[in-house]
Amino acid sequence: MKTIFSGIQPSGTLTLGNYLGAMKHFVELQEDNHCYFCIVDQHAITVPQEKQKLRDNIRSLAALYLAVGIDPNKSTLFIQSEVPAHAQLGWIMQCVSYIGELERMTQFKDKSEGKDAVSSALLTYPPLMAADILLYKTDIVPVGEDQKQHLELTRDLAERFNKKYNDIFTIPEVRIPKVGARIMSLTEPTKKMSKSNPNPKSYISMLDDEKQLVKKIKSAVTDSDNEVRYDKENKPGVSNLLTIHSLCTGESIEELVEKYAGKGYGDFKAGVAEAVVSTLKPIQERYHQLISSEELDEILDLGAEKANKAATKMLRKAEKALGLGRKR
Ligand code: TYM
Repeated sequence: MKTIFSGIQPSGTLTLGNYLGAMKHFVELQEDNHCYFCIVDQHAITVPQEKQKLRDNIRSLAALYLAVGIDPNKSTLFIQSEVPAHAQLGWIMQCVSYIGELERMTQFKDKSEGKDAVSSALLTYPPLMAADILLYKTDIVPVGEDQKQHLELTRDLAERFNKKYNDIFTIPEVRIPKVGARIMSLTEPTKKMSKSNPNPKSYISMLDDEKQLVKKIKSAVTDSDNEVRYDKENKPGVSNLLTIHSLCTGESIEELVEKYAGKGYGDFKAGVAEAVVSTLKPIQERYHQLISSEELDEILDLGAEKANKAATKMLRKAEKALGLGRKR
């Protein structure tokens, strides 16, 4: 049995990209692994957040985790800020990081580019992410492609710590899905689908209603040759829709290309919309039942308790290896 850890930021309603690139795989992994899934609220505050909105987003993300099928009897679901060891080990991991390697992170470069007031936490976010992972002796981290560089850094930091102080951290492996690791924007299909994009037409929110979903997919940018074919370079829009369709229905890309041969984009988009609606509808129904239930708080309380137990042990080991505090 392997230990799995992954996290999602409560920084807006999740997109279909978050679901297909990450969450969907969490559900499969919990069947025969020891899983921790985290609502990384401390990561979310690296950019300004409105207090009430952040609270709502945290709760909403917890309900979504459960709605997609995370089972609290199999997995530990918890909120990062309710387990103080994350921030504590985060500090330690900052102490073993070099500014140069943090400045090389593409996400830092993208988010800070052209801005004069950039929070220092935007730079030191990857060591906190490393702490999240290393606290639980994680073997595998399932994420979308955009997190790959952060995972490589996590491995480097863990190896550096192990070599310098004591060999206490498990070196985690990254697990990126073969299909759907980077779901693209509907309006600019050469860019990643992102919940922070100011244009809501560019992403499918997991909570969009049927009408919105159909409308967004119908207006997704494609090309003018009206042929349903997978060609990421020359037909990024159609290829992205094919990927989405395939992941939602389980049909392979080849099967879909055959199915839509000789048909126009109108039929194709209607098929994609139907696939997305039937994937998200049952999730949304469960979500609405869960969002105001007391059950949700009980699950999060229990999750925090379990996570705290495991995380505190590892934090103590790291502190001991460094010589922090008094000998216990
Ligand atoms: P976040 O919240 O941006 O995204 C959550 C997960 O969704 C994946 N993802 C996508 N996959 C495919 N296509 C897309 N368009 C797409 N957009 C997002 C992300 O790769 C991710 O797996 N730093 C992380 C959160 C984090 C974390 C961790 C993850 C904090 N600590 C420890 C793993 C382990 C983040 O901002 O993800």
